[in-house]
Amino acid sequence: MFDQSQHPGNNALKILFVCLGNICRSPSAEGVFRQKLEQAGLSDRVEVDSAGTHAYHVGSPPDDRAAAAASRRGIDLSGLRGRQVSPDDFEYYDYILAMDRDNLADLLAMSPAEHQHKIRLFLDFAGAGTGPEVPDPYYGGSDGFERVLDMLEQASDGLVLVLKNQLAA
Ligand code: 4NP
Repeated sequence: MFDQSQHPGNNALKILFVCLGNICRSPSAEGVFRQKLEQAGLSDRVEVDSAGTHAYHVGSPPDDRAAAAASRRGIDLSGLRGRQVSPDDFEYYDYILAMDRDNLADLLAMSPAEHQHKIRLFLDFAGAGTGPEVPDPYYGGSDGFERVLDMLEQASDGLVLVLKNQLAA
């Protein structure tokens, strides 16, 4: 969930990361991407949030394993709480970035046609080497969470470059 105390200006680009439950991959993406924005000096130009396609974990903090893995990279997920994608999100956000093809299909099915162009796989921004999907780490071991963070970092680096160009245009 978005922290209002860090609300960037009204002309900020708005990014929403989406997975199934909003307790593993998309809050991790939110945390990683916020760290990358800070390092790039763009925190006040870009607004970031995350959400789940399903309501299983609405109001829940991130999974302990995701929080621990993020913490090892200096990223604090403790303030985040799960929420479900809402119809308003399709109008509000500029980029709606799915972790896997199921999330992508669910988002496209939910979105009004005029906003479908905003919906992409996040790993489209990762360049070569990751494959197209961030695998669901929920039922696996802690290695899965490290691998997820590696992929999220790679895609975040690519997205920061795209946004930098867009903001400079
Ligand atoms: P996420 O992982 O979509 O990355 O947050 C999952 C979290 C919960 C469940 C599945 C995936 N679940 O089935 O409860």
